[in-house]
Amino acid sequence: MNETLTKTELGFLHHFEPGSDAAGAPLLLLHGTGGDESDLLPLGQAIAPSRALLSPRGRVLENGMPRFFRRLAEGVFDEQDLVAQAQALAAFIAGARTRYGLAAPVAVGFSNGANIAAALLLLHPEALAGAVLIRAMPPLARPPEGAGLAGKRVLLLSGRADPIVPATAAATLAAQLKAHGAEVIHQDLAARHGLTNEDVLAARTFLAA
Ligand code: MLT
Repeated sequence: MNETLTKTELGFLHHFEPGSDAAGAPLLLLHGTGGDESDLLPLGQAIAPSRALLSPRGRVLENGMPRFFRRLAEGVFDEQDLVAQAQALAAFIAGARTRYGLAAPVAVGFSNGANIAAALLLLHPEALAGAVLIRAMPPLARPPEGAGLAGKRVLLLSGRADPIVPATAAATLAAQLKAHGAEVIHQDLAARHGLTNEDVLAARTFLAA
């Protein structure tokens, strides 16, 4: 089936592309600041060509740029908004699963999208089957206890020369996710904040395993 849809229903403007791989979990694509629901479709197609793709647009605008939650400064998050937006995104995922007949998705998030995916893992672990987090940092100063991530696989891809996410922040997030029971693979790539071919290869290998 080649049907593609862009919808405003379910609370988020989003793009949905059905997949031909019924056995593979769908991918939930979460863009970075200033991106939209089209941004990561090529990445999704490159890392898992036959999976269904569900790609919402973040509902918060920062100087006209879509994001998934408000921030007070670079790397300083409005946690009240973050918690509310993570809840809205979890409800969107549940609605989309019913609407499109989907299994729990694996999130593939970049930058701000990776940060909301990390928040989903910690606050709404039932929403995701796993995640690929590209250039993520800890979304919450104090993550909740016992988020129930046992059996969920997470690939965290950080950049050794990332000027936005310090190495300690990526390591802290990996430790938080492990403490909640996730099976975390953390790869520190020779990269800055931007997406590289190494990210594509690592994500593809992770999703094929
Ligand atoms: C964020 O605000 O989520 C992070 O600083 C990444 C970014 O969007 O620049």
